[in-house]
Amino acid sequence: MRLQGGGKHLFRSLRARFLFHFLALTALSLLIFGSLFAYFIWRENRRLLDQARSELVEQAKEMADDLMTALSLSRRYPEASFLNLERLAQLLRLEGKLINALSLVVDREGTVIAPRPLAPRVPRRLDADLLAEAEAKAQETEIPRLGKVMVVSLPLDQQAQEGQGEYFNLVVIKGTGELVASPASTLTRYLALAGLVALVVSVVLALYLSNYVTRPLHRLSQAAWDLAHGDLDRRVEVSGDDEIARLAEHFNYMAERIARSARLQKEFVANVSHEIRTPLTSIEGFSQALLDGVVEGEEDRKRYLEIILRESGRLKRVLSQLLSLSRIDAGAWVLHPAPLSPRAFLQGLAEKLRPRAEERGLEFSLDLAEVLPEVETDSDALEQVLTNLVDNAVKFTPPGGKVTLSADLIPGGDLRIQVRDTGKGIPPEDLERVFERFFRVERSRSQDHGGSGLGLALCRELVTLLGGRISAWSEPGRGSVFTVDLPLRPLFRG
Ligand SMILES: Nc1ncnc2c1ncn2[C@@H]1O[C@H](COP(=O)(O)OP(=O)(O)O)[C@@H](O)[C@H]1O
Ligand SMILES: [Mg+2]
Repeated sequence: MRLQGGGKHLFRSLRARFLFHFLALTALSLLIFGSLFAYFIWRENRRLLDQARSELVEQAKEMADDLMTALSLSRRYPEASFLNLERLAQLLRLEGKLINALSLVVDREGTVIAPRPLAPRVPRRLDADLLAEAEAKAQETEIPRLGKVMVVSLPLDQQAQEGQGEYFNLVVIKGTGELVASPASTLTRYLALAGLVALVVSVVLALYLSNYVTRPLHRLSQAAWDLAHGDLDRRVEVSGDDEIARLAEHFNYMAERIARSARLQKEFVANVSHEIRTPLTSIEGFSQALLDGVVEGEEDRKRYLEIILRESGRLKRVLSQLLSLSRIDAGAWVLHPAPLSPRAFLQGLAEKLRPRAEERGLEFSLDLAEVLPEVETDSDALEQVLTNLVDNAVKFTPPGGKVTLSADLIPGGDLRIQVRDTGKGIPPEDLERVFERFFRVERSRSQDHGGSGLGLALCRELVTLLGGRISAWSEPGRGSVFTVDLPLRPLFRG
């Protein structure tokens, strides 16, 4: 199995996806910006062209008026030298220059007849279509060597209609190229350059950002891999205060818990094997002695058999307690809650437990409050808890002492059951630990009461399952009190 994904698919890595989205976003915004800009330029161009067109029409009309005046004058006074064709041509050139346009006079077929001589770029003939317009307006067209132009054509033909003279047109041509911002204009070139710079900057930024985001993730995934492969001391550095820092913190916390649970498990296995080996060794030793026939006398033989029996019982108890604990741990312990009358239940239990106490020379008493309401609970689990507590009290109280089982209602509304004894008690520093698995005060005192240290651990688990709480109080030398508080109507899990 390989966790660090190879780049089989281009967008499988977070970094590539991040980069792609970032760039796509940038490109999109540049595109929108560019299109809007182009649209506005186009609109402005159109406005400029319209304006230029109507201006040109006006100017052409004025020019035509001038020409017609000059023409009629020249017809009336043919001898006046300042009105000859030469002069007309000059007039045309001059007026054209004034408005930065080309003005020509053409005949019916479109042949240019004035001014003469013509500049090389100027066409010798114009398309007759351009002249057909009766109404004065500017047409846009393209003329070889002149490029894109606006053309206004006006008839100079009053005389022609009267049958004297020829039909002429005045044609004014003006280039439109310099009017509008073409795609290749300086402005658009700068704009494209700016867009390119923006794109490059965002690529660099995107690379940096994607690294910034993915590097710590990479480190985390490496650490997770190491942890999964047994490096339980693996931690990651937490920097900053963002989501990734949170993730790193949680990773460290998880690693801490995994390490702790691994340690506990190791200790648990060591404890279990110790608790099982001790009785097994006794059983093995004593049965071997019996088999070898080294035991003299019926008395001794009986004593040995009793030891074997006791150790077997102890083994059985440890195994059953372990089994119960593991069932609870796995969430497989099924409760059977039912209404229970505490009075009857505790009286019955006391009858069962009294003989054991009295055998040890202890006084056993039951102390129940006047009113004890019914409680919803699992009586088997509760019996197991209380039996454990009374067993402990009997075990750790020397003969002549007293064990009391009592029940009362506490102000919170819970049922309080207590087991008190007048035994040797528990040192304050151990009081908290008696509920831990395998913990025994005696282990340090190296006294053996035949216990495993699982009894109270199991009690705590069971009471918790029942929705209650268990606590211990003790004064060394005077005795101990174990208290179980149970809600009357608990909410059972599951
Ligand atoms: N009533 C008590 N008086 C004194 N010590 C007690 C009492 N109950 C429990 N303990 C201490 O708590 C330890 C844990 O108890 P428990 O879990 O029942 O284990 P076990 O009874 O198998 O030794 C005991 O070994 C004992 O040291
Ligand atoms: Mg016990």
